[in-house]
Amino acid sequence: MAHGFLLFLLFSCIISTNIHACKQTERSSLLSFASTLSSPPLNWTSLDCCRWKGITCDQDGWVTRLLLPSKGLKGGISPFSLANLTHLTHLNLSHNSLYGSLETQFFLSLNQLEILDLSYNRLFGELPLSLPSINIRRVDLSSNHFSGAIPSSFFQQASNLTSFNVSNNTFTGYVPSSICLHSSPSLRLLDFSSNVFSGNLAPGLGKCSKLQVFRAGHNNLSGLFPEDIYNATKIEEIALPLNSLHGAISDRIANLTNLAILDLYFNQLNGELPHNLGKLSKLKLLTLDFNNLEGSLPQSLINCTNLVELHLLNNNLEGDISMLDFSRLSQLTKLDLRMNNFSGTVPVSLYSCWSLKAIGLSRNHLEGQIQAEIISLKSLSFLCFGHNRFTNLTGAMKILMSCKSLHVLMLDGAFKGEGMPSDDDMVDFDGFQNLRFLSLFNSDLTGHMPVWLSKLKNLEILRLDFNQITGPIPSWLGTMPRLFHIYLSDNQFSGEFPKQLCRLPRLVYEPNISSQLDDTSYEFELPIFSSSNFGIFAKQTVLQQKMSSIPAMIRLSNNNISGYIPAEIGQLHLLRLLFLDSNSFSGVIPDQISNLKNLEILNLSMNHLSGIIPSSLASLNFLKEFNVSYNNLKGLIPTGTQLQSFEASAFEGNPKLYGAPLPNKCGPNKDMDVDNKNNKDVENVIPWFYIFAASGFLVGFWGVCGSLVINKTWRCAYFRFIDNLQDMLLYVMITFPLNRMKRMLRG
Ligand SMILES: *[C@@H]1O[C@H](CO)[C@@H](O)[C@H](O)[C@H]1NC(C)=O
Ligand SMILES: *[C@@H]1O[C@H](CO)[C@@H](O)[C@H](O)[C@H]1NC(C)=O
Ligand SMILES: *[C@@H]1O[C@H](CO)[C@@H](O)[C@H](O)[C@H]1NC(C)=O
Ligand SMILES: *[C@@H]1O[C@H](CO)[C@@H](O)[C@H](O)[C@H]1NC(C)=O
Ligand SMILES: *[C@@H]1O[C@H](CO)[C@@H](O)[C@H](O)[C@H]1NC(C)=O
Ligand SMILES: *[C@@H]1O[C@H](CO)[C@@H](O)[C@H](O)[C@H]1NC(C)=O
Ligand SMILES: *[C@@H]1O[C@H](CO)[C@@H](O)[C@H](O)[C@H]1NC(C)=O
Ligand SMILES: *[C@@H]1O[C@H](CO)[C@@H](O)[C@H](O)[C@H]1NC(C)=O
Ligand SMILES: *[C@@H]1O[C@H](CO)[C@@H](O)[C@H](O)[C@H]1NC(C)=O
Ligand SMILES: *[C@@H]1O[C@H](CO)[C@@H](O)[C@H](O)[C@H]1NC(C)=O
Ligand SMILES: *[C@@H]1O[C@H](CO)[C@@H](O)[C@H](O)[C@H]1NC(C)=O
Ligand SMILES: *[C@@H]1O[C@H](CO)[C@@H](O)[C@H](O)[C@H]1NC(C)=O
Repeated sequence: MAHGFLLFLLFSCIISTNIHACKQTERSSLLSFASTLSSPPLNWTSLDCCRWKGITCDQDGWVTRLLLPSKGLKGGISPFSLANLTHLTHLNLSHNSLYGSLETQFFLSLNQLEILDLSYNRLFGELPLSLPSINIRRVDLSSNHFSGAIPSSFFQQASNLTSFNVSNNTFTGYVPSSICLHSSPSLRLLDFSSNVFSGNLAPGLGKCSKLQVFRAGHNNLSGLFPEDIYNATKIEEIALPLNSLHGAISDRIANLTNLAILDLYFNQLNGELPHNLGKLSKLKLLTLDFNNLEGSLPQSLINCTNLVELHLLNNNLEGDISMLDFSRLSQLTKLDLRMNNFSGTVPVSLYSCWSLKAIGLSRNHLEGQIQAEIISLKSLSFLCFGHNRFTNLTGAMKILMSCKSLHVLMLDGAFKGEGMPSDDDMVDFDGFQNLRFLSLFNSDLTGHMPVWLSKLKNLEILRLDFNQITGPIPSWLGTMPRLFHIYLSDNQFSGEFPKQLCRLPRLVYEPNISSQLDDTSYEFELPIFSSSNFGIFAKQTVLQQKMSSIPAMIRLSNNNISGYIPAEIGQLHLLRLLFLDSNSFSGVIPDQISNLKNLEILNLSMNHLSGIIPSSLASLNFLKEFNVSYNNLKGLIPTGTQLQSFEASAFEGNPKLYGAPLPNKCGPNKDMDVDNKNNKDVENVIPWFYIFAASGFLVGFWGVCGSLVINKTWRCAYFRFIDNLQDMLLYVMITFPLNRMKRMLRG
């Protein structure tokens, strides 16, 4: 009895050690796999490889699982190293930095493999001719550098495949729709997105009777929207954005009763929206932006009661939207109908969609007034109604200022020719507490800048360009704590550039303060249009979703602003774009502009600026655009600087300016008289005796040296000297108070 028990103990002991004792061939295979990897060490040292980290064995000591995701593994996968692990069912090496190609050998004997996840590595090359195993269920090769076509034989034996993800590689050729012929009963998830697949989607997908997710967006697919996808009646997500598919969305879509996501933006789809869209009661996300859809919104849309986002931006849709009853769309958070041809008034039923965060209706033919019911939208953060034919801006602003969540308000071009809502209109103003972005450009609005704007403590972006606003640029702009983008060009502003604007908190670099204000990660609820530099490089209009894509800017072009450019402007260290062109600025270009080290565009053209171009401007390394044309500048353009890299047109219209890149390399071919006309404003400032002393010195200099001056180079040098001296005087006069100067001269 006792002996029997001992025997049993011994036996079970042997078994329990044997359970995990790994086979020597397996161990050497694993070691050979590990040997090609660099840091960090896997610590695979003990005898029993079944106890190693990431390894699972079966009863007989065969390695069945090799799971090392996100272990920081680096190095190449050698083709033969894993080939001997013939019992492997799970291989997960995702999120490492492995490189190498999946040559046929790699798969050679892995004929038990069920799960293969090599995503997020650096694997490259073409795929082997066939998947390794008839048991394979999940394959994830996404986010690598694989290329070439997927061989048609690849899925031949994959009858149990449920999910296949090759997104984010550089595969070419056709999307292998034949996959459904081999894996029809089980396939649920297919992701081909973000590759270079081209051609049309060959029929076959309809055979995937259990397909739930089909993604092939961001490829180069063309041809008709695949008809047979309507046969995949279990489908929940169809995502084919950023391709060139055309054709209409068929009424047969109503068969896809499980469809929750239909994402087809940036294609060339045409025709009308299917009138029975409302049968898709599970539809949550409908994204059809940037297509050529026409006709009106189907009435049945109101039956899509689970709809969360409806994106129809930039199509040819039309019809009176006031006829639509939105009241049943209680889940709707985003509605984007911008850039279509809708007419009518904004339906009040829209304001009962209490989940709404973003409404985009701009660039349609809507009319009427903004109704007070809009304030029941407590989550409304983004409102873009611009470029319509609304009336009563003052009424609209009085209503909207109570929308507590509003971050972005774009009403540009929507209320043409009305008055800017004045302070009298907005008595007891305490609204727009969270507004970050206010845009009212292109509206021919009249009146002054009202003071209520100064109370928008969270305002970051202010666009009022292309209006008829008169009066001065208010100095309180400089006190607005978060403002960094001021766009006031093409108005009738007069007066001087307010010095207070040079203390704009967001643009003055203060290491301790700016960091706490800086939340550049803010994203708009709907993308906004802007060029890469917000209206400047208009060619590449792109959709921007991030606040951080909008540059720090002061743009006052085309107004009537006069006086000097204040030297204090040099405090706006974080400014990236400065436009003061087409105004009446006079005086010199302040040297301090060279403190604006982040400046990318500086436009001072079409003013009355005089003096020289400060050579310090050459230190503005980020400057991409520069224009001082049509002023009264003179002297030599600082040589050997990046200023020479700009076109001559950036300097033209300044008769006394010379040097590269202007064709006039060496100053006006003038004689002794030193541009009297241009010195008028200098003479007004500089006391007569000073001028006398200076020119006396100059004449003396000429008298002594003039006879020596024979060639052009000398003449050039002479005029440069005169110019520099004059500007030195001008600079001294402006910098030092006049009284002190007189005292200095007397004493
Ligand atoms: C795989 O097994 C074969 C023999 O079965 C052997 O020759 C080869 O060296 C093994 N490869 C590795 C990497 O262990
Ligand atoms: C290997 O061992 C070292 C030292 O014990 C440890 O720091 C490291 O995390 C281990 N590596 C793995 C993959 O477990
Ligand atoms: C691989 O491992 C990662 C991390 O544990 C996991 O998220 C992923 O789902 C695994 N892949 C498969 C196909 O199971
Ligand atoms: C497919 O999977 C089922 C169970 O999941 C299994 O019974 C069947 O044998 C598998 N077929 C193949 C060809 O591996
Ligand atoms: C495919 O993999 C990518 C990561 O590379 C992931 O973002 C995507 O969600 C996956 N597709 C599906 C349908 O799960
Ligand atoms: C695409 O793959 C690259 C690596 O190849 C990765 O860095 C990037 O995050 C992936 N993108 C997505 C959206 O998963
Ligand atoms: C996209 O497909 C078209 C034909 O449909 C082809 O002419 C073009 O070269 C493809 N572009 C890329 C980047 O493969
Ligand atoms: C789709 O289903 C219809 C019947 O519902 C059938 O006539 C048609 O052949 C199927 N198409 C494909 C590509 O399977
Ligand atoms: C699919 O829709 C069409 C037209 O809407 C209809 O005739 C057909 O019976 C539907 N098929 C299935 C399988 O529901
Ligand atoms: C909405 O659905 C109901 C019930 O299915 C149906 O009676 C009604 O006609 C549908 N409305 C529209 C406009 O399609
Ligand atoms: C837009 O609608 C108007 C009528 O409201 C019509 O005259 C015009 O032709 C339409 N434009 C387009 C591009 O459909
Ligand atoms: C403008 O709107 C306000 C607020 O809704 C309203 O009180 C006022 O009567 C409207 N003015 C006109 C002329 O319709």
